[in-house]
Amino acid sequence: MSGDFDLHIVGAGGHAKVIIELARAAGWNPIGLLDPAPVGATVLGVPVVGDDSLAPQLFAEGHAAAFVALGRNELRRRIGSRLRAIGFQLPTLVHPSAFVSPSAVLGEGIAVLPQAVVHACAQIGDFAIVNTAAVVEHDCIVGPGAHVAPRSVLGGNVTLGEEVFFGIGAVARPLSTIGPRTTIGAGGVVVGEIAADVVAVGVPARQVIGK
Ligand SMILES: CC(C)(COP(=O)(O)OP(=O)(O)OC[C@H]1O[C@@H](n2cnc3c(N)ncnc32)[C@H](O)[C@@H]1OP(=O)(O)O)[C@@H](O)C(=O)NCCC(=O)NCCS
Repeated sequence: MSGDFDLHIVGAGGHAKVIIELARAAGWNPIGLLDPAPVGATVLGVPVVGDDSLAPQLFAEGHAAAFVALGRNELRRRIGSRLRAIGFQLPTLVHPSAFVSPSAVLGEGIAVLPQAVVHACAQIGDFAIVNTAAVVEHDCIVGPGAHVAPRSVLGGNVTLGEEVFFGIGAVARPLSTIGPRTTIGAGGVVVGEIAADVVAVGVPARQVIGK
């Protein structure tokens, strides 16, 4: 029988370490990791119980909640959607030191890490990451599976498409838009519009390669 706050986590790498501690801080009890690593290996005291093909069996045994702790945006979203189809509850985890506005709208399976801020009327899509000390200003739209990396800042009314990777310390001027699956490099400053499926770096951020 599974406890009400027992949680299985997909992944056993660096991001999983952060998510294990986030989950504990948010009142959850991580009891097993789903990962190709050897069964029985532990990360911060949580054992690997099998890979993610074990998910249907765990759900059938009464384990109701899961969280995907994978850094790759497309993979995190795809596996999260598969867990949802199985029937798992996919909690959004918010660290107690983060601020999330009561008027912000958050989907499922999202991580909001320590000291992050999500301001008024922002919308955060399923399986997004708002990483350590990131700022999502009022009325932003962060698409499903996007990652707002540590200490980055989205000014008001910025839109990130699905699975955007907004790099560490990057900044977006208010009203900017960034197309789906695009990467903004560390420290970049987005001024205006960046296309889908590109990598853009620098100040102001310019496309360097198409993906
Ligand atoms: C933009 C990025 C994705 C490019 O990665 P990459 O393809 O492996 O790039 P490389 O390291 O091979 O660098 C290629 C060139 O781009 C330059 N470059 C790389 N990242 C840059 C950045 N953020 N800003 C400006 N120039 C950058 C490099 O100096 C190099 O220039 P050169 O060809 O003149 O020597 C990566 O550097 C980056 O910024 N990632 C963000 C990581 C991050 O935020 N992680 C947070 C995890 S929580």
